[in-house]
Amino acid sequence: MKLTLPANSRMLSKQFTFGVATASFQIEGGADTRLPCIWDTFCATPGKIRDASDGRQACEHVKLWQDDIELISSLGVDAYRLSISWPRVIKQDGSLNQQGVDFYIQLLDGLIAKGIKPFVTLYHWDLPQHIEDNGGWLNRQTAYLFQDYVAKIVEALGDRVHSYATFNEPFCSAFLGYEVGIHAPGLAKVAYGRQAAHHILLAHGLAMQVLQKQSPNTLNGIVLNFTPCYSIDDQSVNITAAKKADEYMNQWYIKPLFDACYPDIIHDLAPSDRPVIEQGDFDIIGQKLDFLGINFYTRAVYQADAETIYHQVDMLDVPKTDIGWEIYPQAFTDLLVSLNKQYPLPPMMITENGAAMADKMVNGQVNDLDRIEYYQSHLNAVNNAIEQGVNVVGYFAWSLMDNFEWAEGYLKRFGIVYVDYPTQKRTIKASGLAYRDLVTSR
Ligand code: NOJ
Repeated sequence: MKLTLPANSRMLSKQFTFGVATASFQIEGGADTRLPCIWDTFCATPGKIRDASDGRQACEHVKLWQDDIELISSLGVDAYRLSISWPRVIKQDGSLNQQGVDFYIQLLDGLIAKGIKPFVTLYHWDLPQHIEDNGGWLNRQTAYLFQDYVAKIVEALGDRVHSYATFNEPFCSAFLGYEVGIHAPGLAKVAYGRQAAHHILLAHGLAMQVLQKQSPNTLNGIVLNFTPCYSIDDQSVNITAAKKADEYMNQWYIKPLFDACYPDIIHDLAPSDRPVIEQGDFDIIGQKLDFLGINFYTRAVYQADAETIYHQVDMLDVPKTDIGWEIYPQAFTDLLVSLNKQYPLPPMMITENGAAMADKMVNGQVNDLDRIEYYQSHLNAVNNAIEQGVNVVGYFAWSLMDNFEWAEGYLKRFGIVYVDYPTQKRTIKASGLAYRDLVTSR
């Protein structure tokens, strides 16, 4: 089974970037060669990770990085999106950990030698534990520690990076980590979630200022995730509920970047749940972006609820991936078109899209036709948005390889490459071969 795009698609032009993506904690392993992070602590807390696993080994990428560069290169992609582990490159006293820095320098040099452009995310959820012990993202000071880390690592990496993203998915760090507690650090209060989000956005703005000054030649931006909110039907109460959910789950993290305020739903919150915002914060947050990264996987359906304003409906009898997320590619097109209407956006980059599927290794092969179908329908969805005038300049498959899927542990596989964890053998799945063929056919 092949992946195709219309012959005249802008996605097939030379200027369009195709890549694969990973994140430090999910693949690196080598936990003994860095400081502990909040995910180490969270994994060590009974009941938090579905298979009681952790990131100590993961894909052993710190050992196997050379093979992994060969693997990425064999896929024919233009770019590789990776993240830097803050606790690997900065010591507890705030100075650089040269050993950790050298790991990334080798990796980046290896990618560049193969003609693969490095897209570097500066924060993909692995906050150093000692910073969490001081309040983590609830402490405004963490934003300044992040800015300092960014200044140091950007200087150390020199001109090796093609693009920097400050944060990956502030929603997940703030909402899942501090508001509902299903991600590290596992705190659960509305006020915490909203305050953490504000400090992360502030840290983003502070880091953008550093990037603009120290790294003006890289493409600098942020990666946001969106789960578009649909109403269960066309009753106005439910439409309103879906709109409120959208403001709370999605717009909360993008509106401050462009409109210097939070969405109206902030007024529905009890005053004690609203974030503390200092004067001038929105000026810092609203730095000009070179690109906006979009992560898309699924949509959510809502109906009105007397107590909680809105309530997510579990849709029955609809196609879903192995992680239970509805497959609804039209939401991807709708999202891109509506964001484009609503905000004065820089070029957009799809920094993640992909699917967990119940892969089976048979005779040394994984014939994941379901994942190929997912990619096909979502590539079409992006192409449709481009045809409607949206400026999308790149697309990254999540993920290069199966890895530690956070609270799901190793139970959910998102890779286009299969990882046999006991042997660490990597096998390109049918989806990986189809992706390679699409990318190399240009
Ligand atoms: C979002 C995150 O950025 C990534 O770390 C995660 O594995 C995928 N989505 C799939 O859930």
